[in-house]
Amino acid sequence: MAAASVSVQAIVLLAVAAVASAQLSATFYDSSCPRALGTIRSAVTAALGGPPYTVLLGRRDSTTASLSQANSDLPPPGSSLASLISGFARKGLTTTDMVALSGAHTVGQAQCANFRSRLYGESNLNQSDAAALRANCPQSGGNGNLAPMDLETPNTFDGAFFRGLLSQRGVLHSDQQLFSGGSTDALVQSYASNAAQFRNDFAAAMVRMGSVGVLTGSQGQIRLSCSSVN
Ligand code: HEM
Repeated sequence: MAAASVSVQAIVLLAVAAVASAQLSATFYDSSCPRALGTIRSAVTAALGGPPYTVLLGRRDSTTASLSQANSDLPPPGSSLASLISGFARKGLTTTDMVALSGAHTVGQAQCANFRSRLYGESNLNQSDAAALRANCPQSGGNGNLAPMDLETPNTFDGAFFRGLLSQRGVLHSDQQLFSGGSTDALVQSYASNAAQFRNDFAAAMVRMGSVGVLTGSQGQIRLSCSSVN
C-alpha cells in the first residue's frame, strides 16, 4: 500500500515536472545545468554592451531546423515599413518593438548582396556614404563584402544607429524605412536623442520576442545533444 502511494506521488510529480518543462522560466536550467546561465552571461557581457534583461529559458522549439520556414518568417532587407510592421504584428510584436529591435543593427555587418540595390537605386542615401559603400560593393560581384549597419559606431551598442537614420545613413533599405516620412519617424527621433529610452524598449522587446511561438506540452524538444535530434 505504501509503495503504491509512493509511486502515485512519483507519477504526479513527474506529470507536474512535464508540465513545468513546457513553460519558460528564468530558472529552467538551475538544477539540470546550474553553470549554464553564468557561463553564457559572462561570454555575452564580454562581447556586447547591450542592456541587461531576464531571459526566459526552456524553449522547446522544433524537432528539426527548417530553412524554408526561417526564410519565410524572416523579413527581407528590401521590406517596406508596412511589411515590417505587419510581419512583426503577425508574431504579436508591436511597431515599437519592431523599431527598438531593429536597433540591434547598432552592431554587426551586412553583406553587399543585401544592400546593393539601395546603393544603385535609391536617392534617400547620404551621398558620401553611398560613394564609400559603392567602392566596396560593386554592381556585380563582391556579394559577400561587408559593411557595418551603423556607420558611426559599428561596435558600440548605442543610439548612433538611429541618429544615422536621421541623416539618411541607413545601409539596409529596411532600416532607412524606419525614418522615411512614415509613422515610425517620431520614435526614431526619440531613440536618436534618448539612449536610455532605446535601451529600455530594446530590453522589453527582446523579452517579448523570446516568448514568440512558445511550444507547449509534447510539441518540440530540447536537444540532449546539440548536434542531433533526441
Ligand atoms: C526589422 C527587420 C530586420 C531585417 C529586415 C533585418 C535584416 C538584416 C540583414 C539583411 C542583415 C545582414 C545579414 C547579412 O548580410 O549577412 C542583418 C544583420 C543583423 N541583424 Fe537584422 N534584421 C532585422 C531585425 C533584426 C532583429 C530583430 C535583430 C535582433 C534583435 C537583428 C539583429 C541583427 C544583427 C546582430 C546582425 C549582424 C549580424 C552579424 O554581424 O553577423 N536584426 N539583419
